[in-house]
Amino acid sequence: MYLCIVLIEKNNNTSIIMLDKIQKLLEEVENMHASNLEELKNLRNKYLSKKGEINELMNDFRRIPTDQKREVGMKLNELKTKAQDIIDKMKNELDEKDNSEEELDLTRSSYPISLGTRHPISIVRNEIIEIFARLGFTIAEGPEVEDDWHVFSALNFPPDHPARDMQDTFFIESKPDIVLRTHTSSVQSRVMETSKPPIRIICPGRVYRNEAISARAHCFFHQVEALYIDKNVSFTDLKQVLLLFAKEMFGTDTKIRLRPSYFPFTEPSAEMDISCNICGGKGCAFCKHTGWVEILGCGMVDPNVLDLNGIDSKVYTGYALGMGIERITNLKYQVKDLRMFSENDTRFLKEFENAY
Ligand code: DAH
Repeated sequence: MYLCIVLIEKNNNTSIIMLDKIQKLLEEVENMHASNLEELKNLRNKYLSKKGEINELMNDFRRIPTDQKREVGMKLNELKTKAQDIIDKMKNELDEKDNSEEELDLTRSSYPISLGTRHPISIVRNEIIEIFARLGFTIAEGPEVEDDWHVFSALNFPPDHPARDMQDTFFIESKPDIVLRTHTSSVQSRVMETSKPPIRIICPGRVYRNEAISARAHCFFHQVEALYIDKNVSFTDLKQVLLLFAKEMFGTDTKIRLRPSYFPFTEPSAEMDISCNICGGKGCAFCKHTGWVEILGCGMVDPNVLDLNGIDSKVYTGYALGMGIERITNLKYQVKDLRMFSENDTRFLKEFENAY
């Protein structure tokens, strides 16, 4: 009996002594001060290192009787977290002070910031630009907020064309109409009004349409436009450039076909398909079992467009073409959902680490 009482007393004493120590350390920790990194390091060693005072208490914790472990454990945790927080805070403050000091230590190691990757749309845009650059095309750019003249009127769109509808186009102002450009063809007229033929330009950029966002459509996307105007430019030139582009972009086995189409700014107009690069033209779900996929619109610049933009259509002819960069990227990398391009999910973007 006597032994029992002695043991209980002893156990009680252990936890009381420990709680006292914790309390004392808590007060010490709350009043810690370090005026430089060296002093901070000493404080960290004193309290938080393996042989530090807090860890020593942790070792003693084993001897605390079970029914008192909860109370002592909570206090001990409070002490540890507090010490850690205060030391971290002091470290940040000292680092900031260190950075703002005039003498910058260039030998300090930098934070390990990992390199990002180029966006797939940029990779493909650069590839398109590079192919056309080899044919002598130079880059031209125009504004994304554009007036009606450059987006529609100068490109021979009739006044009642559906693209001019509020349902299709984002209007910034109306009468006079200012819109978010719906295509990069607007850069054609910007260039024609300021330069004389020969004109050989490529215009990459972002375009906007009033579309419901889904896996297949977005309210903004990217296009590349090409325009070539000179004496004696013919449809044969266009066809040859298209074939070369398709082979460079999708591989030398790629075939092209042109289907008659309609665009207000070209006459004749065509849409170009390439042999499906997923099934090699045999037919698959992607090409809807036709063996072909559409990739761009093109045609000979309508003489009206030349005249509207101050270029004599009796002397000059030209061709134009325009393609969606997302579409080309989907084909090259089989991205099934357009929204992935603008979600900024680094797991998706990292997939393109080795793409260029
Ligand atoms: N601007 C057209 C569109 O956004 C694409 C296009 C078609 C551009 C034919 C052209 C062209 O230059 O000749 O759908």
